[in-house]
Amino acid sequence: MWVLGIDTSCDDTGVGLVRDGEVVVNLVGSQVALHQAYGGVVPELASREHLKVLPVLTRQALEAAGIGPRDLDLIAATRGPGLIGALLVGYTFARGLAWALGRPFYPVHHLEAHLAAAWPEGLDPPFLALLASGGHTHLFLVRGLGDYRLLGATRDDAAGEALDKVARLLGLGFPGGPAIERLAQEAEAEVPFPIPLKDQTGLDFSFSGLKTEAVRLVEKGYPKPALARGFQRAVVEHLAQVLKRAVEAHEGLPVVVAGGVAANRLLRSRLGELGLKAYFPPLALARDNGAMVALAAWRRHRAGFPPPKAGGALAYWPLEALALSHGGAVESGMGC
Ligand code: KG4
Ligand code: ZN
Repeated sequence: MWVLGIDTSCDDTGVGLVRDGEVVVNLVGSQVALHQAYGGVVPELASREHLKVLPVLTRQALEAAGIGPRDLDLIAATRGPGLIGALLVGYTFARGLAWALGRPFYPVHHLEAHLAAAWPEGLDPPFLALLASGGHTHLFLVRGLGDYRLLGATRDDAAGEALDKVARLLGLGFPGGPAIERLAQEAEAEVPFPIPLKDQTGLDFSFSGLKTEAVRLVEKGYPKPALARGFQRAVVEHLAQVLKRAVEAHEGLPVVVAGGVAANRLLRSRLGELGLKAYFPPLALARDNGAMVALAAWRRHRAGFPPPKAGGALAYWPLEALALSHGGAVESGMGC
């Protein structure tokens, strides 16, 4: 069974093809160069670029798999959350394609897609899931496919957002996570940063204090590699400490780490050092892509969920709202 997955929730155009749950093609058109000069994603430019790139990438993906549009059995696209103009491009394109081909269309939640990319076959719920990206740092208890209980979330910036902002402060490129990771490797020393919310009893995250500390330390003139290493350490340590506390509070459940930040090597090794049983997505599936959308739709299809009513694209769509209705969220908010 062939599933086409499309993600245009932010600044990457993702087109993926999955056959019987295996990723066959995963093409990502990056818009990094387009937005570089502005220091962040310009929503209108992102939408226009998706419009230009998406049909080309879709054709290339089909060619790479050696199939035609009529071989597709299911067509899926991210419905939300994300930048509404950007979402609309992929969502409408995919719905139109499904309608033209007479195939079912599957609207997908972006975070469930990240989770699908990281959730290994054979791992049965319950487990914990950390979704850490440019727009989210959310910790869920996963009790089943589509059954997510929010345990904690960031009080301010997302982990990826903080990495992106501090990378900008250090004059590094976008996205910030990989840039900081690279620079940290060159460091001979490390500037210590305080670990946020060390004494909390809950499972929240906070990154804005680390950002302020970074501004203060940059002004003091510390070398950039040492700052990058210290900042990365603090971000990772904070995530790791909250996860450890969550695991202890939930009878040692395993943790699935998903979203762009799941690509971070220090995070991967630190969770291992702490003795947590953690699962990560393959690197190519950690950041936004279309294959994860196809995987999410395929998993739901396999579990016997019929395609839900498509409705409109949703800028704001909490994952917890997905539980039974697969929709019904408030249509407001911005960000990706
Ligand atoms: O999931 P994603 O591709 O897009 C969103 O849905 O936001 O996540 C992007 C975020 C960016 O903030 C980026 O800096 C971060 O993931 N990221 C990383 C790494 N690669 C990407 N953070 C830390 N280490 C990395 N290797
Ligand atoms: Zn994402």
